[in-house]
Amino acid sequence: MYTQEMFDLIKVVEQTRERRLKETFPRLKPDEKDNLLRSYHPDYKPDATRPVKVGPNKGDKFTHEHADLLESRSMLDPDSFSLDNIDFDVDVLVIGGGGAGTSAALLAQEGGARVLLATKLRHGDANTMMAEGGIQAADKENDSPAIHYLDVMGGGGFHNIPELVAALVKDAPLCIHWLEGLGCMFSKFPDGTMHTIHGGGTSRKRMHFAHDYSGAEIMRTLRDEARNRGIQVIEFSPAVELIMDETGQCAGAVLYNLETEQYLVVRAKTVIIATGGSGRLHIGGFPTTNHYGATADGIVMAYRAGAKLVFLDATQFHPTGVAFPEQIVGQLVTEKVRGLGAQLVNIEGEQFIYPLETRDAVSSAIIRECNERGKGIASPSGRLGVWLDSPMIEIIHGKGTIEKELPAMFRQYKRFNINMAEQPILVYPTLHYQNGGILINDRAETSIPNLYVAGEASGGVHGRNRLMGNSLLDIIVFGRRAGMNAAERAKNVQLGRLTLDHVKRYHEELQKEGLGQKVAPILLPDYRGKID
Ligand code: FUM
Repeated sequence: MYTQEMFDLIKVVEQTRERRLKETFPRLKPDEKDNLLRSYHPDYKPDATRPVKVGPNKGDKFTHEHADLLESRSMLDPDSFSLDNIDFDVDVLVIGGGGAGTSAALLAQEGGARVLLATKLRHGDANTMMAEGGIQAADKENDSPAIHYLDVMGGGGFHNIPELVAALVKDAPLCIHWLEGLGCMFSKFPDGTMHTIHGGGTSRKRMHFAHDYSGAEIMRTLRDEARNRGIQVIEFSPAVELIMDETGQCAGAVLYNLETEQYLVVRAKTVIIATGGSGRLHIGGFPTTNHYGATADGIVMAYRAGAKLVFLDATQFHPTGVAFPEQIVGQLVTEKVRGLGAQLVNIEGEQFIYPLETRDAVSSAIIRECNERGKGIASPSGRLGVWLDSPMIEIIHGKGTIEKELPAMFRQYKRFNINMAEQPILVYPTLHYQNGGILINDRAETSIPNLYVAGEASGGVHGRNRLMGNSLLDIIVFGRRAGMNAAERAKNVQLGRLTLDHVKRYHEELQKEGLGQKVAPILLPDYRGKID
C-alpha cells in the first residue's frame, strides 16, 4: 500500500499523463547512448572489474564476484577423491534442469543417447520458469531472420559473435513451431495467429508470449515432455566438478546430493553444461530477478577444466525491478509493460528516456535520474526509483488490458494493495542476466573435447547487452543444438581413465598466487548475517 506522501507524488504523474500520451520521447543518437552508458552503467564504474589471476583468461577483467569464484578451490580434494566407483554411466550428461538443459536432454534422447539430467534444485526451478515477457522469432511477413540479426547485433553493441547470432535468428521460427507442437500455449488472436509485440531495441514486433508468464509456460511444456519420455532426472544434485579422462577429454562430472550429502560419480561420453547465470552473486550489490540456484557453477567448473570465458565483465541490469513494496524489491517487472505503452517518469511527472531503448541505456538513464539529477522518488525505506506509468496501458488499449495481458504482475501488486491499472509502480534497475559466459561455437561446443554449453552459462551470442526475449530463444536454440550434437558425438567417443588432474593443476596455480582460501561452486547464496 502506498503512503500518503507517495499518493501525493502520484498526482503529479496523473497531471502530466494526458500530455505525455501524445508525446514521443526522442530516441538516443549513438554518441548520446555511448556517453550515457559510460557515465552511468554499473559495468563502466572504474572499480566494477578486476583482472583474474589464474586460468585460461588470466589477466582479463571480470566482475569481482566472478573473479572471486574463479580464484577459489574445489570442494573436492583431487588427491584423495576416488573415481573408481561409477554411480551412473551414460552417453550424455546434462547439468541443469532449466529450459536449456531440458531442451538439450530431449534432443539428445531423440538422437538415440542414454541421457541423465542432473539438477541442483527441482526440475524446472530455474530462471526459465521466472521469465515473463516472451521469446523473439522473426516469423511474420514484415520480418526476417536478417532483420532480427541486425537488432541482436545492435543491442549487443556489435560485440556479439556473428556465427552465434546467425544460429540464434535462423533457428528461431523453427523453435516456436517446435514448442507449439509440444503443447506450449502462446497468446493468440481469435484467428489463431500469434500475438507479437515490441521489446526494447527491436525494429519489428516479434516477441511471442504467453501472457506475462511465458517462461513458466515454456518450462511446463518442456518438463512435461521430458517426464512423458521417461528421461532420467536427478534432482537436488548439482555438479561440483567436471571429470576429464587421461587424454584431456571431458568424461563426466561429480554430483553432490544436497539431501544425503553424498558425492555421485557420473561417467558420460559427452557433457552439456546448462547451469544458467549468476544473479545470486548480487554483482555490484544489486538485488536480482534470478532464482536461488543462479550462482555461476558451470562457469567455475568449465574454467577449471580449461574453457575460455568471454564478456564476463558485462552484466545486464533490467531497468524495471520492483523498488516498492520492500518485500519484493528486485523482482522483475516485465519489459512487456513498456511494450504495451507505459512510460518511465520522474518525480516531476516527466519522461527522461524513450521507454524502449535497449536495457543498458534505460537502466543507465534511471540511475542518472535518481542518483545524479535528484529526480527519483524515495520509497518509505529510502530506496530511490522512478515511476512506471502503468495506467497508460488501460488508456491506450482499453480497460481491463492489464489484468488480461499481465495477470501475474497484476496479482503480484494486488497482494500489496496496489492496483497497477490505476496507479503507477515504482521501479529501479535490478540484476537480471549474465551477458557473458563460456565461449562456444554454433554447435554449442567448447574448446574442450566432449564438453557443450547451452543457455545463460554460455557467452558471445548477446555481446555486451542482450535484448528482451532472446534469452528464452537462446536456451531453446542452443539447448537443442547442444543436445543434438552431443548425442551424435557420443556415438564415437572412447573414454580413457577418469581423472581430476585438472583440478590438481588448478589448485597448484592458485597456491602459487596465494589464492584458494574460498571454495566454489558455492551452489546456493549465503544470506546469513546480511538481512536486517
Ligand atoms: O522483461 C522481461 O520480461 C524479461 C525478458 C527477458 O529478459 O528476456
